[in-house]
Amino acid sequence: MLYDNNPTIEGVKTMDEAIQGSVFFKENTATGTIPGIKYFYIESYGCQMNFSDSEIVASILGDVGYAPTRNMEESDLILVNTCSIREKAEETVRKRLKIFELIKKRRPGMKVGVLGCMAERLKKQWLEEEKLVDLVVGPDAYRDLPNLIGAAEEGGRMINVLLSREETYADISPVRLESNGVTAFISIMRGCDNMCSFCVVPFTRGRERSRDPYSVVAEANDLFQKGYREVTLLGQNVDSYKWNNPETNEHTDFGDLLAMTAAVHPDLRVRFSTSHPKDMTDKVLHTMAAHDNICKYIHLPVQSGSSRILEMMNRTYDRAWYMNRMDSIRRILPDAAVSSDIITGFCSETEVDHQDTLSIIEWSGYCMSYMFSYSERPGTLAARKYPDDVPEDTKKRRLTEVINLQRSISLNCNRKDIGKTFRVLIERDSSKSSAEFCGRNSQNSMCVFPKKAGLKPGDYVNVKIFDANSATLLGEIV
Ligand code: SAH
Ligand code: SF4
Ligand code: F3S
Repeated sequence: MLYDNNPTIEGVKTMDEAIQGSVFFKENTATGTIPGIKYFYIESYGCQMNFSDSEIVASILGDVGYAPTRNMEESDLILVNTCSIREKAEETVRKRLKIFELIKKRRPGMKVGVLGCMAERLKKQWLEEEKLVDLVVGPDAYRDLPNLIGAAEEGGRMINVLLSREETYADISPVRLESNGVTAFISIMRGCDNMCSFCVVPFTRGRERSRDPYSVVAEANDLFQKGYREVTLLGQNVDSYKWNNPETNEHTDFGDLLAMTAAVHPDLRVRFSTSHPKDMTDKVLHTMAAHDNICKYIHLPVQSGSSRILEMMNRTYDRAWYMNRMDSIRRILPDAAVSSDIITGFCSETEVDHQDTLSIIEWSGYCMSYMFSYSERPGTLAARKYPDDVPEDTKKRRLTEVINLQRSISLNCNRKDIGKTFRVLIERDSSKSSAEFCGRNSQNSMCVFPKKAGLKPGDYVNVKIFDANSATLLGEIV
């Protein structure tokens, strides 16, 4: 799970940072258009699932003659792939629409489409409320985009928000937008059946369904042939991945899929996200231990350290269960790093519950967490059942305490790595200097180090760490 395209550049993310999202082709670099070709511009918000979906959309549009542009001023179609996870995420999208409105005034023929979770949540309300919007397309309806765009060009205002029990887009080769050519995401499943009481995802993404494992392996293989060296398998709850071959009755679970993907090539790293504490099995941990190229990093969101709150959240595990899963990780994968998601100020949360959250963060020693204050989402179980009764300033104060604790743990964690040598996959130039590369170690820590002649993104190097802050390890190639 996944709500930022680059989760670990900072050790700590506040709610604001995490929902900001990233934008494909956001900067207005003039690219020059070719007469006769139509151009689309797409921005994505929310989790990696949405970023991955935008690559599927790009592929579908490419098949009907649309090319991507970085410059919305020269586009014929602006698409915004939206997120509903918190109110703030939706507000961000509304603000972007104001900008698109200005552009549309200058380009009257241009169409504007809302995709993704906010399209699914608000459905035809979009067409009633926002004159600007020509297309509303939910996450399972992207194959219909060419028809809908065609009808919009004829002057229609089109909507398709049907959810599907089968759609996995397994046969569509994503067009890798904004790629570093080294790391890529592969969606292995869609939807979620969990019904955590705070969460809007089951409503916006529909029922859980898994993708044919052979199509996943084929995609990983194709990426490796093209020079990619790391894939991240994506799902809201990867541990519940399951696929039955109807012809052979062969059964594939997540552990099997991990092993199959790891077998593509020893130089292809495999990551995955998100793991759910209720479903994460020792089999998966043993599979990770058995393959050097499966990265020793697990995102295992706890949400709260209080068993009472976890029960109200409908997470279906309690504090003791979570601690048992952490114990298994430490036993089977002693070198693994674990990260988490935390929500502060959920309905009825007391100071005692909050202390339980602080203590489980400390006990777990997360290398990194995404931290949020609770934002009530219309239609969710919590919105229907429990009053949102923790005052806003209490939610924020608890969030600050959680952030401060996490920051100090991240710093200590990183400091412990000083003096160690890690195998790092070079991803790109560091953001601060073109004289330096950056890349991650197996535990997903970002390492920055001076370049050496002859090396390029996609190469593996051994990096010895000599300094660290809460977000980054600094080292040199040895
Ligand atoms: N499938 C993933 C989570 C996807 S949403 C999982 O189960 O872990 C990403 C994170 O957003 C969640 O883990 C949760 O911490 C946070 N989140 C979801 N709904 C929220 C809400 N209503 N208010 C605040 N944070 C929320
Ligand atoms: Fe939301 Fe829970 Fe599903 Fe994650 S597992 S997407 S938090 S309902
Ligand atoms: Fe992802 Fe946001 Fe939808 S987190 S699944 S884009 S609500």
